[in-house]
Amino acid sequence: MKAVVYDEVGGPEVLHLADVPMPEPGEGEVLVRVLAVAVDFIQLHIRHGGSGRIGSPKEPAYGLAPLPRIPGGTACVEVVEIGAGVSNVSVGERHLTGGLRPGSYVEYGVVSASGLSLGTRDAPGPTAIPSNFGPVEAAAFDYAPVAFHTLRVAAGLTAGESVLIHSAAGGTGVLAVQLAKHFGATVIGVASSDEKLDVVRSLGADHTINSLEADVIEETLRLTDGEGVNVVWDPVGGDVFEQSPRAMAEGGRLVSLGSNSFTGTGTVEFWSFWVKNLRLIGWGGRSNADAHAPEIMRELIDLAEAGRLRPVVGGRYPFGEAAEAHGAIEARRPIGKVVLTP
Ligand SMILES: NC(=O)c1ccc[n+]([C@@H]2O[C@H](COP(=O)([O-])OP(=O)(O)OC[C@H]3O[C@@H](n4cnc5c(N)ncnc54)[C@H](OP(=O)(O)O)[C@@H]3O)[C@@H](O)[C@H]2O)c1
Repeated sequence: MKAVVYDEVGGPEVLHLADVPMPEPGEGEVLVRVLAVAVDFIQLHIRHGGSGRIGSPKEPAYGLAPLPRIPGGTACVEVVEIGAGVSNVSVGERHLTGGLRPGSYVEYGVVSASGLSLGTRDAPGPTAIPSNFGPVEAAAFDYAPVAFHTLRVAAGLTAGESVLIHSAAGGTGVLAVQLAKHFGATVIGVASSDEKLDVVRSLGADHTINSLEADVIEETLRLTDGEGVNVVWDPVGGDVFEQSPRAMAEGGRLVSLGSNSFTGTGTVEFWSFWVKNLRLIGWGGRSNADAHAPEIMRELIDLAEAGRLRPVVGGRYPFGEAAEAHGAIEARRPIGKVVLTP
């Protein structure tokens, strides 16, 4: 079968198509056909030789397969064969899942059946997909649970509050903007071009800031009459993380969920944390599972099926153009989530 592989770490150009052995499902596993794969930002870091734990050079091999390597990420898959001892999954079912072996940029992959669950209509499982989505839209919806959980549960965003959403035109950001509006918040979206900001506004953002043209902190303070925002949603890290406390209101919460700047560290000044009683919330690990709880999946699927929460596909590329897809993200061109198809 065909897969997208890299034999050495480096820029997008190291990605190429290759023939790899077809995997076979072992006990407790199923064979799936990949229909569409979301390009996960962390895969860029790993492809460049990072650990995936940005800023953690002590663990260069953390959880990574040796080279040559096939990138991972969330895929919309269809079950084609059931391994021994599997009774919870049927052939023909579609799931939205990561954890594929030998990777996600493959025609066929093997995945543990224990993580696959469509659940019921009232209590959808973690791999359920809104019924109105085809594979590409489903893949672009991959981090809707992350957007929901970071804002609602981790940061405790409530109606009437304000939120500053960095990378608002990113694959997850476009969902975060819509969900923050759904929660009743005033949304300030940040992105690096006016074209991106047009889309962010069309998704419901009340205010937008061009990060390359304006001082995001000063503009946020101006938009909030000097008060600052209640919540900062930060998938960028680095300077953005360091500066954000200045734009936060009394009792504000900063949720750090990623480092799109590839900067694994940030220094915060204690002073603003003390005088404004700020809270810094790290998000990851186990929260990823918590984000797929049935009540969250139910709300997300209801919103999606009602047309009130839509993924934004920032580009659709065949596997043979995976290098172009990764290159576009590194050039910060796409609006929304880039999706690969076999
Ligand atoms: N902690 C966890 O367990 C966990 C789980 C899932 C996802 N995440 C994180 O969630 C975030 C969102 O993931 P995603 O896959 O949807 O990514 P994404 O947000 O689509 O990433 C692309 C965006 O990053 C922004 N960006 C900022 N600095 C950049 C740079 N130096 N180079 C390229 N882009 C840059 C770009 O926005 P502008 O050009 O507008 O600035 C672009 O829209 C990521 O940080 C990811 O690691 C974390």
